[in-house]
Amino acid sequence: MPSEIVPVAGVEDVPVGRMVFVDVEGLPIALANVDDAIYAFSDSCRHEGGPLSSGVLIGDTVTCPWHGWIYNVRTGKSIVPPVGLRIATYPVHIRQGVVYVEISWS
Ligand code: FES
Repeated sequence: MPSEIVPVAGVEDVPVGRMVFVDVEGLPIALANVDDAIYAFSDSCRHEGGPLSSGVLIGDTVTCPWHGWIYNVRTGKSIVPPVGLRIATYPVHIRQGVVYVEISWS
């Protein structure tokens, strides 16, 4: 599966405890900074597509702003409800103050 490493933001654009939305070639992705580690995951909630980057980040969990589904930003797994769904997560690379996201295109 071909993959691409894409620069998406400066590290300073994603402060600790915050989320930002980035569009990677039409793919909606949220970045979240948890304790100085940046995670990348699909911005689109598995319920009805709510914009997760506009939700609430508490620790390593994000709550969807539309109806409250909760996901772990490290694993993408849903926590409540329903448990067992997953949003896509993407490897993050930091180089010289730039955040890169690794996208696999199928
Ligand atoms: S769209 Fe996210 S909980 Fe409904």
